[in-house]
Amino acid sequence: MISIKSEREIALMKEAGLILQKAFKEIEKHIRVGITTKELDKIAYAFIIKNDCIPSCLNYEGYPATMCISINDEVVHGIPGKRKLKDGDIVSCDLVLSYKGYHADATRTYIVGNVKEQIKELVENTKNAFYEGVKQVHEGARIKDISEAIEKYAHAHGLSVVEELVGHGIGSAMHEEPDVPNFNDGSNIRLKAGMTIAIEPMLNLGSKEVYLCDDNWTVKTMDKKPSAHYENTVLVTKDGYEILTGED
Ligand code: MF3
Ligand code: CO
Repeated sequence: MISIKSEREIALMKEAGLILQKAFKEIEKHIRVGITTKELDKIAYAFIIKNDCIPSCLNYEGYPATMCISINDEVVHGIPGKRKLKDGDIVSCDLVLSYKGYHADATRTYIVGNVKEQIKELVENTKNAFYEGVKQVHEGARIKDISEAIEKYAHAHGLSVVEELVGHGIGSAMHEEPDVPNFNDGSNIRLKAGMTIAIEPMLNLGSKEVYLCDDNWTVKTMDKKPSAHYENTVLVTKDGYEILTGED
């Protein structure tokens, strides 16, 4: 069942989204060569607690941190640790928090120092692909309209689409129905006003193939080429959508 949020629930999700936007403002200030991913994770945790929220990922199915931090060929779910950011890295920060029982989920991929032009374009085009997808959102549109728009944009820019991981409904649970794939899987599910979904393209510079690492969390590209990720929590409205986690 796909939940339709009440006015009260929507208000709480908007509040959660605003706090998450502020969390990213704080995290962004600390993105620099030499900082460890654990330090970034601590900054995210402290900000969330200070704002009366709960870090949704911490202990979720045993995940050991607040934020998923994935560098270069790491696609998603990288575990924060002693690794330091280096000049030329791209780093995706995927953060989910809950406020009074409602979750907001977003991801930003940051550039560290001097990044090769082609890799900067990967990051930029992953964000653009999200916007191509979200433009399809309105009451009555189908999930596959979003998926197809993202996939077409990615392919038109020479990028491949990760298929193993998908966007999702979100609300009182971090992951709700429906799945929101970044490739057209033919989903004819129609959107209704009051649904809230996380749209999250994960695009690769090389091939779409990925694998799960020995830590049982980190997903990497098979060909070791970089991958970028961009995500927002989105409210479906009668005429379109509202992005609850910001436009940055
Ligand atoms: N933020 C991820 C998503 O978009 C969830 C992270 S999984 C976790 O679905 F286990 F790390 F929490
Ligand atoms: Co998500």
